[in-house]
Amino acid sequence: MKPEILLLEPMMPEIEQQLDAAYTVHRHTPSATLAATLGDAAGRIRAVATGGGTGVPDAVMDILPALGLIAINGIGTDAVNLDLARQRKVHVTTTPGVLTDDVADMAMGLILSLLRGLPAGDRYVRAGEWGKAPGPTLGRKVAGRKLGILGRGHVGQAIARRAGAFGMPVAYTDLRDLNLEGYRFIPDLAALAADSSILVVAASGGAGSRHLVSRQVLDALGADGFLINVARGSVVDEQALSSALEAGTLGGAGLDVFEHEPVVPESLRTSPRTVLQPHRASATVETRLAMGDLVVRNLAAYFAGQTLPTPVI
Ligand code: 8YV
Repeated sequence: MKPEILLLEPMMPEIEQQLDAAYTVHRHTPSATLAATLGDAAGRIRAVATGGGTGVPDAVMDILPALGLIAINGIGTDAVNLDLARQRKVHVTTTPGVLTDDVADMAMGLILSLLRGLPAGDRYVRAGEWGKAPGPTLGRKVAGRKLGILGRGHVGQAIARRAGAFGMPVAYTDLRDLNLEGYRFIPDLAALAADSSILVVAASGGAGSRHLVSRQVLDALGADGFLINVARGSVVDEQALSSALEAGTLGGAGLDVFEHEPVVPESLRTSPRTVLQPHRASATVETRLAMGDLVVRNLAAYFAGQTLPTPVI
């Protein structure tokens, strides 16, 4: 009998094939109820594979008495109640290291798209307007612009390295000064925003970082400032962001993540000051294969009673 697992978010076909070969996989889709997905299998599910944004709601953990592993296909643990997992003696694993470059690339892509108006230029050419109607307005120069980074973990550092190649002076804030050579540490986020022309959010989500990017921080970034978020929507006060963009007190925002995904406020969707992505910073073939491979390896180790390759708890 193959062990039974619950898959809360689709993975690449190559990865799902490996899961199917080793386990009986119960696939949950948002259109079904979990009761319908699981039928009488709830008591037999020993592991859950899920995405970083999707996580595992407490109510799902509660109905899985035999659960022993949550394998997150991502690095964020904010959508899993780690205290509850500890209490329940459920292991949690993530996919560290393999998605760092892609997320940093997405941050740079959003910066270039937003400041250089790439989506507007693309729309103009596609619509056959070139030569007939006035072109998109001039963009803003990226090279040399001051960059502030909230969160100097692996992703934050990868963004800083890329910014260096663009000649951008980089400052950062984090819970403490990491004494990083060549980068200024500014402890206060509003002060960092005031000092920066572009503020990139690269901090973990969760209660500790909720709404750190507040109205005050957005005001400090200012009408000529740009916000980029490739981390978690919860870190930014989305209502304050919408208002600042509408009022023109913030120059623009490039967003890969939102507070209530997949719901994106209409004001952000219709704003000429935004460039938006559907939470896909790690969504490349290479990286999703590498992430999936880590999920597969963590599951295999768990079921073999071996040391987990990339445990959080
Ligand atoms: C993924 C993420 O898009 O790493 C994370 O925490 O949110 C993203 O890399 C996600 O895990 C896949 O759903």
